[in-house]
Amino acid sequence: MPTNVKSSRRSQIVAWAAASLFILGNFISPVGALTGPILGAWFVGTQKPRRGFLWMVAFALVPGLIFGWRKIPLAGAVQSLEYLGWALVAAVLGVFPFAFRRLVSPRLPGFLSTLPLPLAAVAIPSLALALHIGVASTTGLITFLIFWFAATVVWLWNHQSRVTDLVFGAGFIVAGGFALLRHFGGAALSVNLPIGVTFSWSCLGAALLLSVWALFHPIKQRSWADRPQTVALLQSPFTGDPLHVIVEKGREALIGNSGERFPIRKGIPAFLKPEDLTGDNGKYNQLYETIGGFYDDIQRVVGAFRGLELDSYFENYMSLLEVKPGDSVLETSVGTGLNFKYLPHGAKLSGLDLSPEMLTNCQNNMLRWKMDADLYLGNAESLPFADASFDVVFTCGGFNFFSDRAKAIREMIRVAKPGGHLMIEDETEEYVKSTYEKSPITRSFYSNRKQVVTIPIDLVPPEMEDIHVEMLKDGKFYAITFRKPASA
Ligand SMILES: C[S@@+](CC[C@H](N)C(=O)[O-])C[C@H]1O[C@@H](n2cnc3c(N)ncnc32)[C@H](O)[C@@H]1O
Repeated sequence: MPTNVKSSRRSQIVAWAAASLFILGNFISPVGALTGPILGAWFVGTQKPRRGFLWMVAFALVPGLIFGWRKIPLAGAVQSLEYLGWALVAAVLGVFPFAFRRLVSPRLPGFLSTLPLPLAAVAIPSLALALHIGVASTTGLITFLIFWFAATVVWLWNHQSRVTDLVFGAGFIVAGGFALLRHFGGAALSVNLPIGVTFSWSCLGAALLLSVWALFHPIKQRSWADRPQTVALLQSPFTGDPLHVIVEKGREALIGNSGERFPIRKGIPAFLKPEDLTGDNGKYNQLYETIGGFYDDIQRVVGAFRGLELDSYFENYMSLLEVKPGDSVLETSVGTGLNFKYLPHGAKLSGLDLSPEMLTNCQNNMLRWKMDADLYLGNAESLPFADASFDVVFTCGGFNFFSDRAKAIREMIRVAKPGGHLMIEDETEEYVKSTYEKSPITRSFYSNRKQVVTIPIDLVPPEMEDIHVEMLKDGKFYAITFRKPASA
């Protein structure tokens, strides 16, 4: 079986072309008018709502203040404060449509979810004008179209549609034509083409209607009471007590015979204790809580820049597990669930992770890919499952920096059925050094490590069968596969 990744020149060219456009957007305003809303919609969409809003206000405000500090009136403290106050109001109004999209769009079906951003982008300035908030200006059809284009590109990107490239290209050709027309057509073609108050108020009305719809259509979670076979496998990771579902004040929870109680939040049972987030587990958890919303995008963008066909890489190592339809499969450190896409339909999927943010994105991915998986917030070093629960148990990408790797392997073996297949996959030291220690996002986490990464073959008990080490991606990753003896 080939263990190197196929390369794709096409996605590399598209990636570099798109990056060039986004950089150009900083210098050429008609291009920036298109790339700015795309970046805003993407960025705020990948963050927890409050954090995304505050960061985006800072992005909108701080560069303006740094480069425009000369404009700050020096006549007196009151005028300066007034100027800063208006700048803040302008930034908040500018970011509001992105925050509105972040809150409302996930609850709207299909392509309808592209509408909140353009509606709010037109409605907010009109509302501000009506309320005599001086920083607002009229907007109109062109604003609507620019923001709708941005929301559509992000929607297609999130749905990993090949059409993204087409829409992206077509949008920029239209924008280029528009910029030329504007240049040669003079003032006749104003950017916003205001088409009257009626349009703005219609947008406001539609935005309010969508908000009401979203409010009354919360994202539905499957009930755990409907999963008796799954619940029968659960046990307290601390006492080993079997668990059952109770409903308290309309909320489900898991409870053990001794009264030990585990909450179920947004459909995910939570098995963490504060001590699970100490040592390396705590350190790297901060990283995943920060990047969880754009973890998948980092993989896709880095893969595209390097011209790598990531599908072929995932398929390579996931095929080592030899999963068959009907197998019960557990991934400890499931992250956003990327690996599940490469398992055969009909496998019964379970995933556990230490990071709520990664699990939230895993849940979104499962909905998006129309897949089903039981997800758990927990520590791979103390699993909440009874002995011999799964046909296949694996961990990818998290293992190197678990606080206690030996304990995590013992737990994987404990919950695997006799004869079950297991896999541990992660980066080699060479990759951590050349990539994570250099990247600005991850550098602070990976430099100053206490220990170097070693392939943990010594931690696999010798009584395991068919132990095999495979080097992947030209030696940047390793995968250890083995079987739990059928007689165990
Ligand atoms: C690099 S991501 C890999 C995600 C996914 N397996 C993949 O291949 O895309 C590492 C994941 O390990 C999780 N993780 C780290 N330590 C863990 C632990 N002790 N128990 C469970 N999950 C852990 C992190 O929260 C993160 O989601």
